[in-house]
Amino acid sequence: MAGQISDSQKLSDAQIIAQVCKGLEQVVRNGRTLDWLRARQSKALASPLHQDLMYGCVRHFLSLQHELSQYLAKPLRNKDHDLQMLLLVGAYQLQFSRRPAHAVVNNTVNACRPLGKPWARGLVNGVLRKMQRNAEHQATTSATNNPQWLIEKITQQYPNDAEAVLRANDQRAPMVLRVNTSKISTADYCSELSSQEIAFSVCEPNEAIVLAKPQPASSLPGWNEGQIAVQELSAQFPANLVLQNIPAAINSPVLFDACCAPGGKLYQLHELLSKRYAAHRLVGNDKNPKRLAETLQIGQRLGHADDSKITLRSADATTPDAISKGTYDVLIVDAPCSGSGTIRRNPDIRLLLQPNQIAEHQSLQLALLFNLWRGLKQGGTLLYSTCSVFDEENDQVIEQFVDEHSEACIQPLQLPFGTATRFGWQMLPSEPNTDGFYYALIQKAHGS
Ligand SMILES: C[S@@+](CC[C@H](N)C(=O)[O-])C[C@H]1O[C@@H](n2cnc3c(N)ncnc32)[C@H](O)[C@@H]1O
Repeated sequence: MAGQISDSQKLSDAQIIAQVCKGLEQVVRNGRTLDWLRARQSKALASPLHQDLMYGCVRHFLSLQHELSQYLAKPLRNKDHDLQMLLLVGAYQLQFSRRPAHAVVNNTVNACRPLGKPWARGLVNGVLRKMQRNAEHQATTSATNNPQWLIEKITQQYPNDAEAVLRANDQRAPMVLRVNTSKISTADYCSELSSQEIAFSVCEPNEAIVLAKPQPASSLPGWNEGQIAVQELSAQFPANLVLQNIPAAINSPVLFDACCAPGGKLYQLHELLSKRYAAHRLVGNDKNPKRLAETLQIGQRLGHADDSKITLRSADATTPDAISKGTYDVLIVDAPCSGSGTIRRNPDIRLLLQPNQIAEHQSLQLALLFNLWRGLKQGGTLLYSTCSVFDEENDQVIEQFVDEHSEACIQPLQLPFGTATRFGWQMLPSEPNTDGFYYALIQKAHGS
C-alpha cells in the first residue's frame, strides 16, 4: 500500500474504503498483521473512518464473510477478491456503524472507481440493497465469527467461560492508562482528566486508569510530558508482583527483563523500584533491535532514557551469552506468545493464528526459561507471563520446566481478577477491563 497515496492527500470516503479493501487483502491473502499495515500506511489514512473500518472488518471478518456468502449466487472470481472485500466493508457498516444506510451504500458503490472496477457498481449496489433490507434480521454469533479450532480449544480449556471469552473477543478493547508516578500522582492525573471532562475510572493496581471512551493517546493531558503510558490492565500486574516478591533483605536489587520491548513492564517496574530503593539495576533485553529502539523512544518520553539504573541491550535470550550465571535477583520473562488473550485488541490474531504455531511458541518459551534460569541467584524469583489463554503456553510450559528443575519452587499468587491455575494465575478477556493474561512466579531454592 505504501507509495500509492501521499501523506498530504485529502481522501474522500470512497477512496478510504478502497484503501481498506486493499488493507484487508493484505491481511487475509498475504497474512500481514494490522501492525504491519499501520507501520506502512500513509498519514492520509490516519482517520477515524479508516481505523474503524479496518479494525471492525477484521474483528467481524468471519461472520461477515459467512453472511455475504448467502447473498452471492456464486463466489466472485479470484481476481475480484477486492470486490469481495468491498462488499464486506459495506456489510460491516450496514450492521455495525451508525452511518445512514443510504450513505453507506453510496460510498461503498463509489469505491468501485478507485478500485479500478467501475463496472461492478451495479453488483455492489444490488447486494448491499438486499442486505440493507434484511439488516434487522442479522445477528452475528461467536459460532460464525471464529475458526472452528479456536472454538473447540477455548471450549475444551474453559468449559464454563467459553461463550463469554468468545463474545469478549468480538468487543472493542478498553483503553487503559498507567500513570507515571515518578512524574505525577494518580490523584493529580485524575484531576487533570476531570478538568478536561474525560470520563474514567481508577482500577487496581493503583496506577491504572480505564477511560470510558478510547481516544488518541497524544490528545490526552500530560502525554508529551510523559505523565502516562498506555498499558493494558492485566499487563500492569507483573511489575507489582515482582516488587512484592523481592526479599526484604535485598536493598539494591538487580533485575533482568529478558523480552522487554516496547518496555511497558520495564518502565513501570523502574518507576516502582525508584520509589522503594535508593539504588537498583534493571537490564532491559530484547532480541529485536527495532523494537528496542522503540523502547528507547518511549523511555525518552517518560523521562527514563538517561537514567543510569536502566540498561537496554539486544540479545537472543535463548543463547548462553545472553545472561551470566547467578547474577540476578529477579528475572522477568514476558514471553513471546500467540497473543490469544488479546484478540479484541488485535483482531487479526483470530484470522492469522494457526493451531500448529502454538507448539512453536511453547518451544521458544521453554528455551527462554531453560536458558535464563542459570542467570538467577539462589533465592531469586522468576516471573513468567504471557498474554495467552492457551494452557499449552502457560501451565504446560511451567509444568515441563519445574519437572526438570527440582530447585524451582512455585510461589502462590493472588490477584484481584482471574483465577488460580495449577501453577499460576489466569485472567480472561471476559472479565471487566482485563485482557487474557497468565502469570507464574518461581523461586530458586537456596542451596541449589
Ligand atoms: C510480549 S512481548 C514483550 C512485551 C514487553 N515485556 C512489554 O511489557 O512491553 C515479547 C517480546 O519478546 C521478544 N523476543 C522474542 N524472541 C526473543 C528472544 N529469543 N530473546 C529475547 N527477546 C525475544 C520480542 O521481540 C518481543 O518484543
